[in-house]
Parts: sequence; C-alpha cells; structure tokens
Amino acid sequence: MALEIRSPKYERASITIPAEVADLQKNFNGTICSNKGDEYEIRNNIIDLLGDEHGEMTWAQSSNHWKVTAAVYEDIWRKRSLSLFSGEEFPIQKEKELLIDWLQPEPGKSYMDIGCSTALYGRLVKRDQPDAEIVALDFSKQMLSEARLKSEAEQTDLYLLRADARYLPFFGATFDGLMMGGTLNELTDPLKVLYEARRVIKKEGVFFMMHLIKSPTWYIRLMQDSAGLGGLSFWTVDESNQMFERAGFSMVDQFTKGIVCFTKLIPA
Ligand SMILES: C[S@@+](CC[C@H](N)C(=O)[O-])C[C@H]1O[C@@H](n2cnc3c(N)ncnc32)[C@H](O)[C@@H]1O
Repeated sequence: MALEIRSPKYERASITIPAEVADLQKNFNGTICSNKGDEYEIRNNIIDLLGDEHGEMTWAQSSNHWKVTAAVYEDIWRKRSLSLFSGEEFPIQKEKELLIDWLQPEPGKSYMDIGCSTALYGRLVKRDQPDAEIVALDFSKQMLSEARLKSEAEQTDLYLLRADARYLPFFGATFDGLMMGGTLNELTDPLKVLYEARRVIKKEGVFFMMHLIKSPTWYIRLMQDSAGLGGLSFWTVDESNQMFERAGFSMVDQFTKGIVCFTKLIPA
C-alpha cells in the first residue's frame, strides 16, 4: 500500500510515497514532491523530510545522531535497560507481549513508532502482523540507517521516515495505533509531541507508551536530576497522567515496575 504523508511545508498538500519504498530488500533512491512542488529525497529507502535541517538539540538528543550510539544502542543497551530500570529480569519478549496485547495490530491497519531509534517496536508489530502498515519515524539519520539494517536482516518491511515528531507529517486521524518507547523522556517539547500524536491517531486508536518515571529513591532521583542537565525529563506517574490527559488522551491501563511505566492510552 502506498503511504500518504502531509507536506512539511504546505499543510494541505499531500505526498504519496510508493509502496516499494517500504520494501527493504530492494534499494530505493529517488525524489518525492507534493503537488505544490516541494521536494524531498529518499536515500536507501529512508524518506528524508529534514535534509540538512538540525534545529536545536539537547545533549541526549544529539547523542542519537552519532554513528556509534546507533550501532550499539539496541544490542548493548536497549536489551538490558528495562531489567536495569525495573529491578527485575525484563527481556524484550515480555515487552513485546504487552505491546501486542495492548495494540492488537490488525491486517491492513496502520501503526507508527514515534522516535523509533532502531524501530524495535515497529519491527515487533510488523513481525506479529505482517499485513499491517508500519511507519518508523525519527529525526536521526544514523538511527534510521541502523533501523534499516535490522529490518532488512529480519525481512521486515516498513516505511522509515526522517521527520520531527513535533510536526508529524500526517493528516489528522491517520493511524490505528501509535507506539513510543522511551522517547517521551528525551523530547524537548513532550506536550507538543503528544498533541501531534492525538491529532494523527484515529478515534478508536490505541497509543502504547513506555517511559521512565521519577524514582522515589533519593540517590536515583539525584542521578535523574543530573540527567536533566543533558536533556532528559522524568515525571511521577500522576504528573505523566496529567500530561497525557492535557494532550487529549485517557489512560485505560497502566503498569509500572521500578521506574519503568507502560501506559495504554486512547483518545479522550
Ligand atoms: C530513547 S530513544 C527511543 C528508543 C526506541 N523507541 C526504543 O524503544 O528502543 C529516543 C529516540 O527519539 C528520537 N527523537 C528525540 N526527539 C525527537 C523528535 N523531536 N523527533 C523525532 N525523533 C526524536 C531520538 O533521535 C532517539 O532515536
């Protein structure tokens, strides 16, 4: 299925991305443009809506643009991080079960992994439901290149989109499901991204959120406070839920382990 996106430059103009772009077994390079004439490149199947644009980034965000971070992120860090933060053995398989249980991906429906890094969630959903359409969005070229390598190796097809989550390049009510793993803590403007998520999700959609909350333990809190200098933010569960509510979501399920919080959100 071709993917329709909204031009980042002209709010009412659409851009059609050919279905072959999601076929990661074949290299796709080219240019796409809206009916207003603004053009964007697709290199190695990665749809790049940002070009050389960088904008201001926190230290935490800019580290995701280093090749080395992208290369080691999933295998060295991501696979272990939830066990570290939850204080118990928390393999990816357990996270996957919760993701699939809450999202219930269906054939022909569309899902987006926001701030995807290596597109772990997007790939898990696609493997569970090969006939679903997946968009994996991040503003780091390096992370998207790594996502491409991993998806290709697993023969998982998805659209890799380089864009800023504060300005999601989609029309309203596009997605049946959204997922965001750990990205909320890294955003410079989390509420803006949540508002955007609310705009692009369908009325019956589900938003799977995993984020880290403020620790009640003083020395961990101290570390979290210093991480704040690098651009990471943490909230209590109540503060997080107030933020979700403010953005127009209702919390329908929630599960916390240590400082890891999983939330199932639906449009209010
Ligand atoms: C903690 S990592 C996400 C990990 C990933 N979701 C997972 O479950 O493994 C945060 C990611 O969000 C991306 N990111 C941060 N701010 C963003 C923004 N405004 N727009 C798009 N991507 C963003 C970073 O480049 C980084 O890859």
